[in-house]
Amino acid sequence: AKAEVVVVGSSNTDLIAYMDRMPRPGETLHGTDFKQGFGGKGANQCVMSAKLGAQTAMVSRVGSDVFGKETIENYQRQGVDVQFVSVSETASTGVAPIMVDSKGQNSIIIVPGANNELTPAMVDDARALIQSAKVLLVQNEIPLESSLAALRIAREAGVTSIFNIAPGIERPSTDCIVLPSIVCLNETETTLATGMEVNTLEEAKQASQHLLNTGAEGVLLTLGSQGCLYMTKDTCVQEPAMTVEAIDTSGAGDCFIGTLACSMAQEPAADMATHLKRATRVAALSVQAHGTQTSYPRRADLPSDTW
Ligand code: RIB
Ligand code: NA
Repeated sequence: AKAEVVVVGSSNTDLIAYMDRMPRPGETLHGTDFKQGFGGKGANQCVMSAKLGAQTAMVSRVGSDVFGKETIENYQRQGVDVQFVSVSETASTGVAPIMVDSKGQNSIIIVPGANNELTPAMVDDARALIQSAKVLLVQNEIPLESSLAALRIAREAGVTSIFNIAPGIERPSTDCIVLPSIVCLNETETTLATGMEVNTLEEAKQASQHLLNTGAEGVLLTLGSQGCLYMTKDTCVQEPAMTVEAIDTSGAGDCFIGTLACSMAQEPAADMATHLKRATRVAALSVQAHGTQTSYPRRADLPSDTW
């Protein structure tokens, strides 16, 4: 087994109900629309990388239900290697019931199901695959010890790795910070991890410096309208956000990271500014279309100035 980008992470089925306002406890309301989609941060990042043309493999776990079957078929349609997507007989496929109100506000419940059964031993089964990768991507929707097992394999093999600690962890262990090549966090995840407020670019730099002092090799902070910031002990790269009319921002962060991984895997000699520019542009395209994975562009559909 061999892949340019390997993702060790979650697969969910997103169940999105649209409504004028959210129901109160005990209340029943009529919704206005319903959409089912393939989701999970791991899956989204994996599919983004594959859509842009990187040879991509997924290490994940689903249930032996219709959602699991469709999830595996979705990976296969996108050309993702599913040799290490296992099927549980005991747990259901992870689901994310999502409520979206008329103001576009959302509330999400993640029921991990089979994602919680992705053990470090299963990650170890994929050792050779991870060792073959140019980039390993890991998020925080599977048991933490499994994420760390994957990052450890990459670290020992000299494979570049990105740990997107999302959902965030309050004061994560030093392993979470020092094992990956890049720790990637948004503003709230940064505050959870460091205890530091991140409202301005200056505060973002201070929080990054704090993580570098803890032993991080590289820190990438995504800062919404302020773009993103990448720091190592001797570099600082800043990429401004693009101003576009957003239609649906769900999964935009995953789009950004999947694009980054593809770019880094396929052009390891390019500098970080180039990778971040591509990731920013592709993510901006994705928020201008509905849905999560359905809004992710393919390489052939990118405007020529994007890549
Ligand atoms: O980042 C977006 C994803 O978070 C959704 O697809 C949902 O499944 C949750 O995991
Ligand atoms: Na979108």
